[in-house]
Amino acid sequence: MNIVGVESITYGVEDLEQAIRYHQDWGLTLVAKTDASADFELVDGTTLHLRRSDAPDLPPVNLNWLPHLMKSTVREVIWGAADQATVDAVAAELSKDREVTTDADGTIHSIDNLNNAMGFAVTKRKELTLNLPEINTVGNSGRPDKPAEATIRRAVHPYRYVHVVYWVPEDTQATVDFYINRLGFKMTDDMTGGGAFLRCGNSIDHHNLFLQRNNDGYYGFQHVAYEVKDLDEVAMLGQHMEENGWRTNVGPIRHNICSSFSWYLWNPAGGAIEALSDIDHIHDGWEVRTIDPSQEGFYGHSWTANPAHRGVRPAQWVDPIPEDA
Ligand SMILES: [Fe+2]
Repeated sequence: MNIVGVESITYGVEDLEQAIRYHQDWGLTLVAKTDASADFELVDGTTLHLRRSDAPDLPPVNLNWLPHLMKSTVREVIWGAADQATVDAVAAELSKDREVTTDADGTIHSIDNLNNAMGFAVTKRKELTLNLPEINTVGNSGRPDKPAEATIRRAVHPYRYVHVVYWVPEDTQATVDFYINRLGFKMTDDMTGGGAFLRCGNSIDHHNLFLQRNNDGYYGFQHVAYEVKDLDEVAMLGQHMEENGWRTNVGPIRHNICSSFSWYLWNPAGGAIEALSDIDHIHDGWEVRTIDPSQEGFYGHSWTANPAHRGVRPAQWVDPIPEDA
């Protein structure tokens, strides 16, 4: 399947104005707004949609998490396909055992094996190529006779989606099998039953989908990651969000699976949101790693700016509980 990545995400939100303000602070471009909805674009042309949580045309809530995190959530993730033939092939495959509907614009809608609403559409994204960062290191002048660009604070605008993450209750294998065998996703790293990092069939992102096992029965949407220009933009965006009153979940950190430099914040529209840069690029020929998250010394990251977060495990991932919960 020639699927390229996340194309569009639709949230159902309890407080629309708050969710709009949040995503404007996040640097997305507001392109349309009504009393009941708002539509945003990322730099590459992929989209985010906010709807009131009681909108009758939204797919149902499919989430089991802590109560204060269930007021608003993602209602549907649309995956981008390279061509119409791929969308048609997905429709034919999913129609074998579940309902598939088609919009006037050709977008198809269905559900995955955990009832997460999903769709597929021919991608409208612009392929972007940025210049490599100019940095000096010991013995290397990557930026001769120039100050660093990041000495000037700038507004950050996320370029593209990288991945979404779903909680999977107990055994993740059936869900892994669904995405690999039915939709052509590829395994990048396998956390031995603790979860699986999957990339779309036509993607070099380390993962476009992380299925994270949860032994407390959680299921449904957990977080979405956006790519920004470089490490400085991760820090600038995270700091900008905090300055506007939004709360950090974890970060900044350097992951030891996928390598990304990341900062996570709570999202009033649902779950968490992640700004990242410098994530691993994976090509065919990569050998799937089997990683045991219970191994001694494994923390999920090599360092964190907030040592109190070191050792945070999935079941405690929502700590601290927001004061307004
Ligand atoms: Fe992530």
